[in-house]
Amino acid sequence: MCGIVGYSGFRDASKILLEGLGKLEYRGYDSSGMAVYGLDGKTRIVKAKGRLKVLREKTLDGETLPGHTGIGHTRWATHGEPSENNAHPHCSDDSNVIAVHNGIIENYVELKEKLLSKGYKFYSETDTEVVTKLIDYYYKKYNIGPIDAIAKTMVRVRGSYALCVMFKDYPGEIYAARKDSPLIVALGEKESFIASDVPAVLKYSRDVCYLGNLEMARIKEGDVTFYNLNGDAVDKEVTKITWDSECAEKGGWEHFMIKEIHEEPKAVRDTVASFIKDGSIDFSASNLTDEVLSSISALRIIACGSSYHVGEAVKRMVEELCGVACIVEYASEYRYRTAILDPDEAVIFISQSGETADTLAALRITKERNIKTIGLVNVVGSAIARESDYVIYTLAGPEIAVATTKAYSAQLVAMYSFALALAKAKKRVDEKKEKEIIYELESLPSKIERLLDEKERIQWFASKFSSAKDVFFIGRGIDWAISMEGSLKLKEISYIHSEAYAAGELKHGTISLLEDGTLVVGILTDDSLIEKTVSNLTECRTRGAYIMALTTYGHYSTEDSSDFTVYIPRTLKYFTPSLAIVPLQLFSYYISVAKGLDVDKPRNLAKSVTVE
Ligand code: AGP
Repeated sequence: MCGIVGYSGFRDASKILLEGLGKLEYRGYDSSGMAVYGLDGKTRIVKAKGRLKVLREKTLDGETLPGHTGIGHTRWATHGEPSENNAHPHCSDDSNVIAVHNGIIENYVELKEKLLSKGYKFYSETDTEVVTKLIDYYYKKYNIGPIDAIAKTMVRVRGSYALCVMFKDYPGEIYAARKDSPLIVALGEKESFIASDVPAVLKYSRDVCYLGNLEMARIKEGDVTFYNLNGDAVDKEVTKITWDSECAEKGGWEHFMIKEIHEEPKAVRDTVASFIKDGSIDFSASNLTDEVLSSISALRIIACGSSYHVGEAVKRMVEELCGVACIVEYASEYRYRTAILDPDEAVIFISQSGETADTLAALRITKERNIKTIGLVNVVGSAIARESDYVIYTLAGPEIAVATTKAYSAQLVAMYSFALALAKAKKRVDEKKEKEIIYELESLPSKIERLLDEKERIQWFASKFSSAKDVFFIGRGIDWAISMEGSLKLKEISYIHSEAYAAGELKHGTISLLEDGTLVVGILTDDSLIEKTVSNLTECRTRGAYIMALTTYGHYSTEDSSDFTVYIPRTLKYFTPSLAIVPLQLFSYYISVAKGLDVDKPRNLAKSVTVE
């Protein structure tokens, strides 16, 4: 999604903006731009299509834009193609108002017509230009200040936005507003910052305020004021960021993705440790006491993408261990139907970013229906974390690569731990069983480390298949859930078409797609289902497919039906996704590298999808 940075202070604004936008590149973008209030009292706007490096070159690394106040933007095109003209900042006809925006203004066509009838002209296809001119319109029509003009605009627009605005009449000041798109304000000595995400400004400030929904802020050097929609000043809590800026740097690795894969043991260890107190599972820090947990009649897991796959991977554990029905749904589907909800069920919203638009909308709908909501998020202070009744945090640290790896692994163990707590509250596991499960949970990081030690073999295999056209991942039960995530990883960063199929469904149609040499990856970790999936692999092999089997140590006979076998350490049957996913992540990574692709920022994708 788009990235926003704003700066007011004593440093070179353009340098801070370029640096901050660089830290937000992971969000995905196709053009960029910035506006700096110059030392000569004039505000200049420079925009560029393509990578940030084009903007850097155009401005000679910011040198051509001297000044101490400015706003910058990386745009991920929604309304209008990626082009210099559509890139932000946008400005009113007389440059009175200049703004950058993340989100979508749903009623922009109607507003544009209104503004056209008032004499405004439009040069771009964007909804942002419309919102910029609407602010200008209210500002002039009612002869009011920036906060009132922005508030009037907020009431009039529908959709989502994070806005950063400069007014010609208020030099050195920046105004911010948000609804459903993240925005933070960071505080410094005689300077302040606005950004879509903390890494953009972490080098300069660790004191961060999260702008709430329908709130505004004004920054001028070290002065920061927050406002509600009525224009009244409000107090905001300052959050001290404790993680290091190195967490969001490559630190010698070629890509963030491979760095983050190697951080999985730590992400898993830290997350599991946060749920264990004196050797027992304990979710009281999230206020999920035994009383709350034992009252849960059923569990519904709502999420998107990889976070959804986590739900698919844990639903068997929830049903078998807790004796609780578990439904897993895409947020983008759930939000558009009226699901029959049990008043005592709990709905878990899984999200790394905590800002995914569909998941957030699903959460709000569920809350309106007075159902218990639990957010399982990685980003502290994100919208889903703030709005859920209960919050469970994964401790994966900042994840920069668009393709999730360590956050997915942390989500898995958080969900295993939650299922254990639920089973315990429902008296479905005794102390001995609880200790056994905790022991297995705590053993996962060292097993992941062992898999990482064997990465060269996966790298070699990936080099053989970097020109593959189609890849199929098949498995049954939990192995199908692993297949879904393996397949998504491959397609998102290697651009190879891949699909995940329930192995038993192959013969109902899909098998006709197989050609000589098509790679079929069989996931074989569930002892009770291995034989059945092996039969499907044999069917594929007979039709010319090349078979890669991914199974647990001990199942050596699978080598008879495969061309290449990868083994993972044994663990509790519910925990195999945590191990099986590691070779699959490495496989996708090495294919992407072999193809010379932009591993961390794959085309058309954004790290957090804050639009529908
Ligand atoms: C995974 O690699 C993707 N980048 C994507 O599917 C992601 O998991 C999805 O957009 C959900 O994001 P969230 O966890 O931040 O809500």
